[in-house]
Amino acid sequence: MKHFISLENLDLEIIKDLVNDAVSFKKRNAFPNLSNHYISNLFFENSTRTKLSFEMAEKKTGIEIIYFDAESSSVKKGETLYDTVKTLSSIGVECFVIRHSQDRFYENLISQIDVPIINAGDGCGDHPTQSLLDLVTIQEEFGSFKDLNVVIVGDIVHSRVAHSDAKILKRLGANISFATPKFWQDTTMNMGTYTSLDEVISESDVVMLLRNQNERHTQHYDEKNFLSQYGLTKERASKMKSGAIIMHPAPINRNVEIDEDLIESPQSRIFTQMTNGVYARIAVLNYVFNS
Ligand code: NCD
Repeated sequence: MKHFISLENLDLEIIKDLVNDAVSFKKRNAFPNLSNHYISNLFFENSTRTKLSFEMAEKKTGIEIIYFDAESSSVKKGETLYDTVKTLSSIGVECFVIRHSQDRFYENLISQIDVPIINAGDGCGDHPTQSLLDLVTIQEEFGSFKDLNVVIVGDIVHSRVAHSDAKILKRLGANISFATPKFWQDTTMNMGTYTSLDEVISESDVVMLLRNQNERHTQHYDEKNFLSQYGLTKERASKMKSGAIIMHPAPINRNVEIDEDLIESPQSRIFTQMTNGVYARIAVLNYVFNS
């Protein structure tokens, strides 16, 4: 049985295969047949893209979805995550896609249950399927990861996307730098150098923006001046190399992390990332059920 919890404990060869699988599903518009499998998507934190692109991936592979809504479930009566998963697996659910606000929510769960868990985002921890779709997007663009200059911009310390992406991109040989105000640096993460966006914008191949994680902040920051101080303004974007791309996992705080005129600019791959999310998630479902 295979969980999909984090890219950290997966061999690079497996990760590269998953990226190639996703690219091939996209190119051929043909998908593995996973019909007769039952899955539940348990989202205890809000989601548009991750939840619905999992649902699209499940439908394209013929998986039956057993719908779960945290708001109308027995979680509201105090049922634990373990009891919810145990209940649904008792009625025949064979795999769970879970998003939860608690870092490493899966830790106790995976030792107590015998069905695969796919991590759709744990607190400030990891977001492995977002990383996979980001890898697909970067590979489509550049063909490989080695020696690419990637700057990750914004709320590093609270962002599971920053954590997951920095770790895997470094393993794949990219050069990572972080551009963030001091109060959002993550001193526990030793994956790259801290700098300013102005310092590295002209030599970056990938400008990877993050959402400011307002729901996880305990202290106020100056949102009004964030764009001009730290974000991707049109002026900064004009210094990007030709061929360099803009990424953002979305949802976007328009005119905070990025000038809204850049969101659909020729260098932006933000909506391509969303498209690739479906194929990356098909690759993950195939890995969990078929490998
Ligand atoms: C991210 C998430 O929820 O971690 N969004 C996503 O899955 N596309 C990014 C974010 O909300 O900051």
